[in-house]
Amino acid sequence: MLHSQGPIGVFDSGLGGLSVWRHLAALLPQESFIYMADSAHCPYGTRPAEEIVQLSRQLTETLLSQGAKLIVVACNTATAAAITALRQQYPQVQFVGMEPAVKPAALQTRSGHIGVLATAGTLKGRHFHQTLQAYAQHITVHTQVGEGLVEIVEQGHLHTPEAEALLRRYVEPMLAAGIDQLVLGCTHYPFLMPLLERIIGTQPVQIIDPAGAVAKRTQQCLHTQNLATSSTTLPQYRFLTTGSAQGLALFLEQWQLLPLGHVPSIQSVDLDPLGYTKIHKI
Ligand code: DGL
Repeated sequence: MLHSQGPIGVFDSGLGGLSVWRHLAALLPQESFIYMADSAHCPYGTRPAEEIVQLSRQLTETLLSQGAKLIVVACNTATAAAITALRQQYPQVQFVGMEPAVKPAALQTRSGHIGVLATAGTLKGRHFHQTLQAYAQHITVHTQVGEGLVEIVEQGHLHTPEAEALLRRYVEPMLAAGIDQLVLGCTHYPFLMPLLERIIGTQPVQIIDPAGAVAKRTQQCLHTQNLATSSTTLPQYRFLTTGSAQGLALFLEQWQLLPLGHVPSIQSVDLDPLGYTKIHKI
């Protein structure tokens, strides 16, 4: 039974989905959240789709067992591989997924060239190709797999010459091709913003992150499903990770993701292949 006073569940292959979570928490300040990071299996982008479906099921089970009332799949790769299967398996649950923001980029471009930076799994997905068919027939779309970028964000190696060199290798050819819109098609990539801004410099390129739109869609779903909370007390923020709880705590602190006055609960969990999830206290 989904209860309106329950938390909103959010999951990602790792810490990247926190770039979506921060928009959700800002737009829905009364709502409690439970965020699940599968950092132990990150990255998803190079895994076969069946494996991503299996992992996404386990994350969904964990969130539902902790009372989640709606689930935001804050991962483009898991959305591409698994959201259809999740919707079939849990018809009573509302899932909100990520979508590479090709539509707004195609509407706003003046040069007729847009760039999409995403994982291999997202760019291969049927959904991405349908989106191109629907919105981008009249423009040129330059796609680039961001191999290695997710790991840089997970490990916090952003401020290294290697990280900047890798990102330059991906972005500069798109800039040279004349893009004026760059779509971030992976929820880890907004954390590369300081580097991206340095690489793009004064060139007139707009960077598009769909997280704000996903937060708005979540808000609409809560209302149409009668799941918005009526509570006026301070919401609770829980974070579960299959990786390091300390690493997640550090990431939240470094990026100042928590609104003032919130003390989060952060726990590590083991995903058991048989579907039992063990939650450890730290
Ligand atoms: N944040 C995930 C996404 O949006 C990263 C994918 C991965 O783990 O490779 O696609």
